[in-house]
Amino acid sequence: MEGSNMKQMLFRRDRFLGVVFFCLTAAFFGYADAALNPTDLSTLNALASHWSGNSLQWGSGDPCTNGWTGVICDPTNTKVTQLLLSSASVIGTIPAVIGSFTALEQLDLSYNPQLTGPIPPEIGQLTTLTSLIIQSCSLTGDIPSTLGNLKNLTFLALNNNQLTGPIPSSLGALVHVYWFDLSTNQMSGDLPVSSKSPDGFGLDTMSGCKHFHLNNNSFTGPIPPELGAPPGGVVKLTKLVHLLFESNMMSGTIPDSIANLTSLEILSLSNNQFSGSIPASLNRFATATGSNLQQLLVSNNKLTGIIPNLTAITSNLSVIDLSKNSFDPQPFPSWLDGAPKLQSVYLVDSHLTGQLPSEILSSGMLQALWARNNSLNGTLRIPSTLGPNLRVISLQDNKIDSIIQLNNSVNTSEIDIQLAGNPLCDPSSLARPARVCDNVQGGLMPWTSPLQPSSNCNSGSCSDSQIINPLNSGNCNCTTPLEIVLEARRPTFSVITDEMIERLRLQMQTQLNLLPNQVWIHSASFTPDGRAEIDIDFFNADGVSALDRSSIQNITHSLTSQTLVLPDVKPYIAKLITSGEPVVSSKVALSAGAIAGIVVGVLALLAMAGLYAFWQKRRAERLKHITQPFKSWGGGGGEKDVEAPKIAGARWFSYAEVKKVTNNFAEANVLGEGGYGKVYSGVLASGELVAVKRAQEGSMQGAEEFKNEIELLSRVHHKNLVGLVGYCYDQGEQMLVYEFMENGTMREWLSGKMAYPLDWTKRLSIAVGSARGLTYLHEMANPPIIHRDIKSANILLDGNHVAKVADFGLSKLAPEGADKKIATTQVKGTMGYLDPEYYMTQHLSDKSDVYAFGVVLLELLTSRAPIEHGKYIVREVRTALDKGGMDALEPLLDPCVLEASREDLKKFLDLALDCVEERGADRPTMNEVVKELEAIAQRNKPKAKASALATDTTWLNDVYGDDAQYGETENFDKMPNSSSNFKYSGGYTPRMPEPK
Ligand SMILES: *[C@@H]1O[C@H](CO)[C@@H](O)[C@H](O)[C@H]1NC(C)=O
Ligand SMILES: *[C@@H]1O[C@H](CO)[C@@H](O)[C@H](O)[C@H]1NC(C)=O
Repeated sequence: MEGSNMKQMLFRRDRFLGVVFFCLTAAFFGYADAALNPTDLSTLNALASHWSGNSLQWGSGDPCTNGWTGVICDPTNTKVTQLLLSSASVIGTIPAVIGSFTALEQLDLSYNPQLTGPIPPEIGQLTTLTSLIIQSCSLTGDIPSTLGNLKNLTFLALNNNQLTGPIPSSLGALVHVYWFDLSTNQMSGDLPVSSKSPDGFGLDTMSGCKHFHLNNNSFTGPIPPELGAPPGGVVKLTKLVHLLFESNMMSGTIPDSIANLTSLEILSLSNNQFSGSIPASLNRFATATGSNLQQLLVSNNKLTGIIPNLTAITSNLSVIDLSKNSFDPQPFPSWLDGAPKLQSVYLVDSHLTGQLPSEILSSGMLQALWARNNSLNGTLRIPSTLGPNLRVISLQDNKIDSIIQLNNSVNTSEIDIQLAGNPLCDPSSLARPARVCDNVQGGLMPWTSPLQPSSNCNSGSCSDSQIINPLNSGNCNCTTPLEIVLEARRPTFSVITDEMIERLRLQMQTQLNLLPNQVWIHSASFTPDGRAEIDIDFFNADGVSALDRSSIQNITHSLTSQTLVLPDVKPYIAKLITSGEPVVSSKVALSAGAIAGIVVGVLALLAMAGLYAFWQKRRAERLKHITQPFKSWGGGGGEKDVEAPKIAGARWFSYAEVKKVTNNFAEANVLGEGGYGKVYSGVLASGELVAVKRAQEGSMQGAEEFKNEIELLSRVHHKNLVGLVGYCYDQGEQMLVYEFMENGTMREWLSGKMAYPLDWTKRLSIAVGSARGLTYLHEMANPPIIHRDIKSANILLDGNHVAKVADFGLSKLAPEGADKKIATTQVKGTMGYLDPEYYMTQHLSDKSDVYAFGVVLLELLTSRAPIEHGKYIVREVRTALDKGGMDALEPLLDPCVLEASREDLKKFLDLALDCVEERGADRPTMNEVVKELEAIAQRNKPKAKASALATDTTWLNDVYGDDAQYGETENFDKMPNSSSNFKYSGGYTPRMPEPK
């Protein structure tokens, strides 16, 4: 009895002590119903203090139940199982303590561009982890080999960082990983294979892998034959569907064993240095049920020999790209005719000879045939039955001398047939068919949403990061969308249809559980290297406020983890643009780039603090640099040695330096691209924003021409000409570093890609500004310069919308004297802007620039591209005017210009038409053009400062101020690196809020 009482008492005392201990623990950790285990709690607290000062709303209450951003716990709220911080503005490094979580399964830190430093080896302690995603941040250093300990991992994505070093062979132990993405880093070394690594692991042992995305790095060495099967062994990678090795420095031949990977859908080896011939053994991809291969991409290598007949693997083939190799001259691979699902064929620069077999054009699914720069000859025969999906036949620069249509009732008007550069299109040829000879190069049509905000709304009243959601009809609220650019890395399609866009939209809406008014795809387009980009805005359902953090998290994580299934665009990668908070800077977003904003903001503070001495020192260092070496000029990359130029005023950059400045040419820094290559944004060590134009292989100028351009550029200084900061001619690269133009090109503004349309006064100011820049080239530069490539894509706008003429790649020094004409051997310029007189006579004069400028003026009036759907703007405008005067013209005009008076419109139009007169002698000089434009601008001087433009006062003064004169010499002959960038930086207003 007593004993049992005693027992009960003891028991009670134990319980009591337990409760006391519990309460103490709870008190210690700061909340009453403690549930989360202490290790996870202290880990979270350590992370919170490490990442303090950024926008994570962490810090009070129970992390599991009190809504700590991105912290998700198990059902009992005792363990943190997911840490999802994509696009959460995390700033700083990843601390080692992150390895202390006890039961973490998912870690996603993607889209935090200010997340820097290496991946700590301690992450390898998180053995419960199934998904590790840190893409599109700024991570550096090597991948720690401890990641090989994460035996439960199924998803590993570290793409789009600046990681270096080789792939640790230990990762070969990750046999459950199906998604392995290390693309777009700076990784190097040969790919690890089990037979050669000390630990016996390699890519060939990752037996569960479906996706090897290793593209866009600097990997070297061959494709290990072991990937297909070890010598004499069995195939382990039986599930592999995507093998993406493109854009590395890999070499060797394509191993026969690769064809053992019979589940493969995409084999992408483009942009490497692979040699040998394409093995006919690839036919072994085919199994009893046919072949799974959908995309065979091997362009831009050093492949030789004859393209083998690969009929056996055509059953599912949708894209084949064999362009730009060193094949033997050979006929068009006619076995492609039989590929039932073929959508796009790329055989550019492939040494094809003989006549194009017309059967290929009848293929049922074919959308585009790209075969420019070959020696295809004879007659282009348009067959009686054309593929119903065919939209592009690109055969420029071949030897085709005639075209026949086998059946005249076949309608080819929907098809973009491009034959410029063939004998058929010889200017002297009487039978020259204009439609196929004058087409713009390119051909892939962008898509724009037919749905736009109601015209009753004034989108000008929205701030820069805001737009009006067109899905909320009749509602004119400005709202901040989450903007995402979805990149289809290897689209099978060459045509973007309304159906496909709507399908994509619906897939996103339903899978993300959103309402119909929350997802708007506003545009889609192709990049020159064949990717497709789809611009999507996600809105809050209420139509007013921005999306909350949890929704942003859900959307972005579903993209990084690829749980959002979008078959049309796979494999996709989402490039986040902006969520109204400081996030990733990219193309368009640079105008609102958070990083730039912060950098410049800090600079402004520095300036205000009066750190002038600091700048002086910097400047002195720079000036020292300017006079420094051109050591790599001769041997660096040109075909032949040229004497080292002494270029005053243009700074020399090493390749390493430019690489650093542009974040290793990060995709996020790409401002635009064209035939010549890409333009990247960058921040110099001084904080100055720059744009770097990087010539791509194949579009490089000779060393001499490159030198000419730099010399020319460094001599001209005018506020309406884009200033050259410096150049890089190193390691085989040709790059020009320009001052940064925040507002992109005039073309972009006219094509409606920007947040709001350009109003009449802004259009006038752009016309005046660019005309002044051009006048300076023609009349003030000594000797005068003919630009030769005036077009809307070469007129850039700075932060104040001041227009500046750019791109002097084709420019020529004009001879002075009575007959200011130069005989040229080759007509150069851009289709749509080419002076017909120059084209016919090959005599170049400054009036050719005037012609092109006239086309630009017509673009300002109509917002159309010079050649759209095969229609030439000059002809369209003239025809309309002849038919019914200004009234007939009105439908062609952009509604934005209708605010102008009839009289001013007529004056502007007449001026444009004078510029595009057939005979150069009938055209005005640029000086006369400026005078006329200034007169119109003067009459259109905005009266109310309180207009939407009131913030742009610099711009107003610039165009309408009393000092409105061109050719002022204030900047003339000044070093571009002098204090003027100081002024430039100060003038930049950060648009984005700074992080809290
Ligand atoms: C086209 O080229 C092939 C091969 O180079 C040649 O044999 C043939 O004669 C050419 N045909 C025409 C019509 O020029
Ligand atoms: C985010 O996703 C989770 C899980 O799928 C869901 O419970 C939550 O409601 C979502 N949040 C929002 C704001 O959509």
